[in-house]
Amino acid sequence: MKIQAVRGMQDLLPESKAIYRYVEDTIRPVLKSYGYSEIGLPVIESTVLFERLVGESTDIVEKEMYTFTDRSGDSITLRPEGTAGCVRSAQQNGLIYNQMQRLWYAGSMFRYERPQKGRFRQFEQIGVECFGMPGPDIDAEILFLTARIWQELGLTSEVTLELNSLGNVSSRGAYKTELIEYLSAREDELDEDSKKRLQTNPLRILDSKDAGTQAILKEAPLLIDHLDDESKRDFDGLRELLERAQVPYVINPLIVRGLDYYNKTVFEWTTASLGAQGTVCGGGRYDTLVEELGGRPTPAVGFAIGLDRVALLVAENSVTDKVGDLDLFIASLGSEARTESMLLAEQLRRNFVGLNIGVHCGDGKLKSQLKRADNSGALIALILGEDEIAAAEVTVKPLRAEDPQRRMSWPALERYLKKVFD
Ligand code: HAM
Repeated sequence: MKIQAVRGMQDLLPESKAIYRYVEDTIRPVLKSYGYSEIGLPVIESTVLFERLVGESTDIVEKEMYTFTDRSGDSITLRPEGTAGCVRSAQQNGLIYNQMQRLWYAGSMFRYERPQKGRFRQFEQIGVECFGMPGPDIDAEILFLTARIWQELGLTSEVTLELNSLGNVSSRGAYKTELIEYLSAREDELDEDSKKRLQTNPLRILDSKDAGTQAILKEAPLLIDHLDDESKRDFDGLRELLERAQVPYVINPLIVRGLDYYNKTVFEWTTASLGAQGTVCGGGRYDTLVEELGGRPTPAVGFAIGLDRVALLVAENSVTDKVGDLDLFIASLGSEARTESMLLAEQLRRNFVGLNIGVHCGDGKLKSQLKRADNSGALIALILGEDEIAAAEVTVKPLRAEDPQRRMSWPALERYLKKVFD
């Protein structure tokens, strides 16, 4: 029996992995340039952390968590998202007591969802969590930051910022009662999931994908019309900042997010290019979460970018040129030349730190070696055969320029490489 990867888990083959690397390498300096500090967090947390913070009646906690009993009999869970663990860590390590923090993390998250394009059971996020700032200035800052990320990735025209405000807990409570009243009168027309949610989590009905339910929602009361004064003032403040910084957005009053911890500002960056899984980034404020974990009231806001979806977008838009692994490839013919090619490669790696050098190993025709050199993205191939060894020279073959190939001594080669790669 052939052993295959577990369903929903992807192998990232070198070509895809290079795109992920490009995306991460583009995002990291942006986070740094806004003064955010990286934090490393465990992949496993106590199950109760997610039950308490993400919410018992969310899809994530109800049906998507990878939860196990470990050898000591404790219930542990592979993190389905990063916010809960970050709040736990920040509090446990005293990072948020009377302090402002701007943190970011990257890593794998796990959700037992139905796999499809852009949706995996192990997926990658880069997340940001900010503590100690009530907004709306910090809300604007993280939206400027995400807009800058799309800009750097060449994806600005691919994504739309959708904004909503959920208000505070009390205004949401009053709205919930009104929504339940409206929907209960039309319960027969709701889809099965929404019928269940009417009892457990009525706000989640707002982002139902069912056409019948969506039609009913057209006339439903909207949260954004029921905001408390403070939430309304903050939301207006955020909108003004976005407008003055010329970051375009649309208001989507149906955004409620799939996790229970949000209040006030919530947002999603969406794309039309990825089919059903079009949200590439989601986040918002969660001002009561630290307290729910036993800490002091601490305002907080954050977001997470779905790297897998961003990598798909980058690949589909061919934003990157083909990312090659090598700068220089050394081909050899014959066993003596093979030894010399290994030594030459070591010498060049010592003298040209940062240059990516690949060496052919084993036998093989020159033609196929040069084909590999070409596919590797290398600018230059060096060829060592019996003639070259006898003359203490090397043949230099430019792969991307029209220049003819020529023979030169090893010292002349170093001078030549300095000119090409400096
Ligand atoms: P989320 O909306 O659940 O939020 O996930 C954020 C992003 O992760 C999504 O917009 C999507 O791009 C990506 N994502 C989610 N599930 C999958 C999946 N199964 N496969 C591929 N990509 C996926 C959170 O996780 C919050 N912790 C964000 C946050 C941080 N809010 C405040 N701070």
